[in-house]
Amino acid sequence: MTDKPKIRPSLPTHWYIDADHYERELKAIWYRDWIAVGRFEQIPEPGDYFVTKIGTQQIIVTRDKDNVPRAYHNTCRHRGSIICTELEGRFRNGRIICPYHTWTYGLDGKLLATPFRMESDDFDPGDYPLYDVAVDTWKGFIFVCLDEHPSQTLEQALGEEAKEVESWPLEDMVIVHEEVSVLDCNWKIFWENYNECYHCPRIHPELCKVVPLYAEGIQGHYDQPGWEPKDERDNGEPSVAEGMTTWTVDGISALPELEGLDGKKKAKGMTFATLLGSMYVVGHPQYARSVRLRPLGPETLELTATWFLPPETAAAHPEEVEHLLSLVRLVIAQDGRACEWNQAGLHSHRHTQGVLVPQESGVAWIHDWLRGKLGES
Ligand code: FES
Ligand SMILES: [Fe+2]
Repeated sequence: MTDKPKIRPSLPTHWYIDADHYERELKAIWYRDWIAVGRFEQIPEPGDYFVTKIGTQQIIVTRDKDNVPRAYHNTCRHRGSIICTELEGRFRNGRIICPYHTWTYGLDGKLLATPFRMESDDFDPGDYPLYDVAVDTWKGFIFVCLDEHPSQTLEQALGEEAKEVESWPLEDMVIVHEEVSVLDCNWKIFWENYNECYHCPRIHPELCKVVPLYAEGIQGHYDQPGWEPKDERDNGEPSVAEGMTTWTVDGISALPELEGLDGKKKAKGMTFATLLGSMYVVGHPQYARSVRLRPLGPETLELTATWFLPPETAAAHPEEVEHLLSLVRLVIAQDGRACEWNQAGLHSHRHTQGVLVPQESGVAWIHDWLRGKLGES
């Protein structure tokens, strides 16, 4: 006999609002875990860089002479000025130069020159390299880890979940479109909404036509009481509707299918990899996409939604890109509104904690992950 599903309490409301709690999450997650910050294709040449901010920390991400990604705190070893004043650019001649007193570093972070410094016999440039940050790539995405001694490699941190989209050739795909938006909500609100479809019938009528199971207000067959997998590979994920192949407004696409995809996943039309807490990736038969999160404060979140195609497909079918964006762009806007409603309502003095109903098992999963990170499980 299977247990009857149960309700359970949501997180304390102040966790979505308080600056102190936000700081605690920055320390436990954002300053400690591997965080997705961009794509390697954003810095195609040695010396190209961009600056990203995680909490209060500014990080320079660059490509060195050997085409290896490098990351450093955007802070000079002299008296601590920021080094990059622009959010992106190219270090000329492979020199990273502080704008204040011109201390000059190589792309490998070594201090190379300190112009106009009076000689003293107690100064060793070797003592003052840039503060380096752990950086690695997965399928063309750049991740950094601000922990000085990361407890896991990127591969370990991404774990089994990343393998969901293993057959998508993301490392060889290129960005065909990117949209950045800022939502007035805590970053956890976004993940909660992402991981339940209880809201889908009301919020996403167009998506429910493409993924009929969502019209039942559940995210997967696993949320149906008594569900059993059909075989060992059946994870209960839903499929696009009969006659449809992918996530577009009409569920089809004129673009060629990607080569080498896992057949079963391709047939479902959608495969998610949830890489908490900074990104999720979705593989569709013809394209892939990602959404990256960057909390800007307790009640502000930046989202970067990116669409990918193989370069030859992107070059041959530029007119198809708009159609690819059609459904997801709508869904992201609908979800964004719902997230902001949710955040606004949390300000009631009466609402100290919400409740999760059984089909919000995915939200409970997010909460368990978060409590684990905060050492509260
Ligand atoms: S603070 Fe950078 S050179 Fe002085
Ligand atoms: Fe949604």
